[in-house]
Amino acid sequence: MSTASIPGLGDTETPPTQHAELLAWVREVAELTTPDRVVFADGSDAEWDRLTTRLVEAGTFTRLNDDIKPNSFIGNSDPSDVARVESRTYICSRDEADCGVTNNWMDPTEMRAVMTELYRGCMAGRTMYVVPFCMGPLEAESPKLGVEITDSEYVVVSMKVMTRMGAAALEKLGTDAPFVKALHSLGAPLADGQADVAWPCNEIKYITQFPEDREIWSYGSGYGGNALLGKKCFSLRIASVMARDEGWLAEHMLILKLISPEQKVHYVAAAFPSACGKTNLAMLEPTIPGWRVETLGDDIAWMTFGDDGRLRAVNPEFGFFGVAPGTNWKTNPNAMRTIEQGNSLFTNVGLTDDGDVWWEGMEGTPEHLVDWKGNDWAPGSEALSSHPNSRYCTPMNQCPILAPEWNDPEGVPISAILFGGRRATTVPLVNEARDWQHGVFMGATLSSEQTAAAEGAVGTVRRDPMAMIPFIGYNVGDYFQHWIDLGKGADADKLPKIFYVNWFRRGPEKQFLWPGFGENSRVLKWVIGRLEGTAAAVETPIGHVPTAADLDLDGLTEPAEDIEASLVVDVDEWKAEIPLIEEWFAKIGDKVPTGLRDELETLKQRLG
Ligand code: GDP
Ligand code: PGA
Ligand code: MN
Ligand code: MN
Repeated sequence: MSTASIPGLGDTETPPTQHAELLAWVREVAELTTPDRVVFADGSDAEWDRLTTRLVEAGTFTRLNDDIKPNSFIGNSDPSDVARVESRTYICSRDEADCGVTNNWMDPTEMRAVMTELYRGCMAGRTMYVVPFCMGPLEAESPKLGVEITDSEYVVVSMKVMTRMGAAALEKLGTDAPFVKALHSLGAPLADGQADVAWPCNEIKYITQFPEDREIWSYGSGYGGNALLGKKCFSLRIASVMARDEGWLAEHMLILKLISPEQKVHYVAAAFPSACGKTNLAMLEPTIPGWRVETLGDDIAWMTFGDDGRLRAVNPEFGFFGVAPGTNWKTNPNAMRTIEQGNSLFTNVGLTDDGDVWWEGMEGTPEHLVDWKGNDWAPGSEALSSHPNSRYCTPMNQCPILAPEWNDPEGVPISAILFGGRRATTVPLVNEARDWQHGVFMGATLSSEQTAAAEGAVGTVRRDPMAMIPFIGYNVGDYFQHWIDLGKGADADKLPKIFYVNWFRRGPEKQFLWPGFGENSRVLKWVIGRLEGTAAAVETPIGHVPTAADLDLDGLTEPAEDIEASLVVDVDEWKAEIPLIEEWFAKIGDKVPTGLRDELETLKQRLG
């Protein structure tokens, strides 16, 4: 193809690829969106410098003090563009039944028509970047490639942190490798001479997945989960469909490596809804002597059964996109050490007078700062310095406890899967499933109080199956069946054991009953004890739950009655949960697997 046929690419410029399908798509998008320029991103440091400088000039970024946080920036968003927008997220499968009740659906042809009109001319006055990226190791047998087209420099630099982005991914694309097409626009064209705003976006937003076409169309938002399309859109929504078709799992899970004092190694994956503790658990600093944790991933796990029959997990991401508030040297020292090295992007946090970041919960409350909305802030100010869903975006390889095998395409064998949510009542600290199907039932009926990570009423309890409700790319009933089938097809002895945890149960004074954070290592130790047959538990109607005596509580200063209370299985509370589970299953309808209906019956009988 002649390069002149890509509008926006200079006459003398040659695209750095001969991939015919990619070039045709780039041309088609450029013709539709009419950018001033087209640039292929190479992921180089020079490009990072160029784009971050440009973002500073545009007023989007503020450069932090290089002596404190080298090569790092705050980019505070429009106050309307701070979280994932689940009400605007669509799974446009050809058949509506393939979307089901967990996401919105629109006929794909209709959606393409609607969004095509939104995209028409939407990049006018801007640069269109073509951003090749790879989810998971580049060295994988068939690397999972994508290309994001975006008109946001913030997205390009964030993609460099979060994915294997640039020339190496483009090389893997070769001339004909398959890739996920991910189209993103802020939806904020600039007329001739029109001044830009610091955070361009559009009131109208669409986060659309076309699962059969393995394609993503995002419009109107610059916020992480809506705009960094390798993350939720590709690695969960599209990948979950690939996983269904190919017999694997794409899950909203952290991956950690636990090393016992005897140097025994276990890998644990854990699914908690957004802002419910994945990043913290992934980087945990155990409080019990001799135990160590290393990190492999904090948000997404792709899991496949290996030749050895074990479920093996790979983290498709390359960086951490962590919740800022609450992160400090006590709760998550390893996150602090990771961002301290710089090369990080912060969104919707406070800027201190010495050019550092600050947010609620961090040590060293400053006398003054500029809050995320650009207003003066001081201790006692009514407004928060940082949005509750403010984030740090930081390279994974700066994490001091990164596991050496983090980039292994073979992944790591998972011994245990934890499901967890944020529940003030009912759900005990930890509970072991009787078997795989019971564990799938626990995941399928997982519930959690909503957080600020998505729009909506914070605190409302909702079912969040496997912490995947906004991320399942197909019908949730089929998804449950897929989980059950994978277990049935596997060697039962080699399957991970499944646990349900809750760090967020509260006492009468509304205090958390369990201290959480590093102390969660005590729960991990019990989990490993269960795998190895050395830890005791009580059989309850809901599963195997430890007593306080079964946990290593040495050195814990919390009141014993709080710990006891965190472990209680209250039959009346659980009976009250039954109609909620029934309502959830009724909503899903016919596609609820028989195995899960059986589990519900069993639970009812056990509760008496
Ligand atoms: P993620 O979004 O699932 O990765 O969750 P994070 O690990 O970022 O944590 C979200 C919020 O929950 C942060 O404000 C944390 O400080 C808080 N958090 C994380 N782990 C715990 C815990 O064990 N106990 C309590 N009480 N809070 C926690
Ligand atoms: P989280 O990731 O799970 O760390 O909150 C972002 C999100 O899920 O929106
Ligand atoms: Mn997440
Ligand atoms: Mn996280």
